[in-house]
Amino acid sequence: MKVAVIGAGYVGLVTSACFSERGLEVNCVDKSSEKIESLKSGRIPIFETGLDAMISRNIAANKLRFSSDLATAIKDTEISFIAVGTPGRGDGQPNLEDVYRVAEEIATSAKHEMLIVTKSTVPVGTARKIKHRIQHTTGSKHKQFDIAANPEFLREGSAINDFLKPDRVIIGTETDSAVEKLGMLYDSVDISPVMFTGLETAELIKHSANGFLAVKIAYINQIADICERTGANVIEVSKGLGFDKRIGRNFLDAGPGFGGSCLPKDALALIETAKSAGVSPNIIEAAVEANARRKATLANRVAEILGNVENKKVAVFGLTFKAGTDDVREAPSLELIPALRDLGIEVSAYDPKGLQNARAKVGFARFCENAYQAAEGAHAVIVLTEWPEFRNLDFQKMKKIMRKPVILDFRNLLNRSEVVAVGFEYHGIGIG
Ligand code: UDX
Repeated sequence: MKVAVIGAGYVGLVTSACFSERGLEVNCVDKSSEKIESLKSGRIPIFETGLDAMISRNIAANKLRFSSDLATAIKDTEISFIAVGTPGRGDGQPNLEDVYRVAEEIATSAKHEMLIVTKSTVPVGTARKIKHRIQHTTGSKHKQFDIAANPEFLREGSAINDFLKPDRVIIGTETDSAVEKLGMLYDSVDISPVMFTGLETAELIKHSANGFLAVKIAYINQIADICERTGANVIEVSKGLGFDKRIGRNFLDAGPGFGGSCLPKDALALIETAKSAGVSPNIIEAAVEANARRKATLANRVAEILGNVENKKVAVFGLTFKAGTDDVREAPSLELIPALRDLGIEVSAYDPKGLQNARAKVGFARFCENAYQAAEGAHAVIVLTEWPEFRNLDFQKMKKIMRKPVILDFRNLLNRSEVVAVGFEYHGIGIG
């Protein structure tokens, strides 16, 4: 079976790599010929564990091809996945220009029956709008096009596993033929369980999943605040809550606030969807507001612990929005570092993968090659991303090179008794 994947960004590359790995022939298309040339020579523009090897393997096996020529790439395929980016427009709505442009380009180029499948995250109603646009652009030829919504649920850092062993594959369709084609496709690549539903429902499942996760994190962060003022311990509270199968233990880690390219953007898009449907989005709005406030007040927490901020220096460990990625989009570091600077605090920073991306966004910190370099002369270390390597640092050595042995662990990552035994003053999140 042969498919086309349009878009060689995060979702498009993971989709292309995993489908080809499981035996499909994949033509992956991107309008940037520069990106395509780089991919052909094995250079992958993003960091995702295992992705570069999987792409190289399937290019070599001639199952995965890259091209910037959409018309040729879809010529002998019957299914085209749209996996282009839908970045926020700044008004809460995602920018769908590329999604519509690609759909119309497929429709005008295809000379045969084609099932157009949206993989990009889009608001409810987008698939139907694509259908109307295609009808409008292609006139009587529109009957040869069918549409489906197959949203991705990939987490950065575990995207390959999420794709190949998903909790569920959601497919929204309107026709038996689309059900049959996509059913066969997922069957052939041995990816399950698949749930078929309508177009709007599939689209809403995606946004409401990320909206729910945003609410869940905002909720546990609020519980963490209560813990801090009442002497309770949020790590134990999460554990206790997690035993309840109705709640579950996942996504109950209190921290500095959620970030990334999806949760914040999808939560805003869901708010807009609710508003335009005449529904009050007050629950999701509260989560978004609480999260924004949390990130904006991180520097105050640091200042409170430092006492006098004059001539103080702190080391920030972790700049990406979570571990396992080089992505710094909406990361707490992007708010914390400028806020610390505004307070007059000097910042040095280290991240195992995100240095380059962080440097491009907050140029004024001192970016270091390792954690010890960053900690040298610091009055406090702030653990901002849960990179496992921070657990294995030599804290004896760190204590010697720091001016004051203070740790603010915004991820509750470190072994508290271990660092306290070495002589550190330790502050976790939600630990009263
Ligand atoms: C998310 C969704 O999980 C995925 O299904 C979707 O398709 C894309 O968006 P991702 O952006 O990779 O994936 O990040 P995710 O692992 O969901 O984490 C989002 C944010 O929440 C991160 O900032 C993370 O640090 C934070 N988080 C997560 C917490 O603060 N606590 C938790 O318990 C879990």
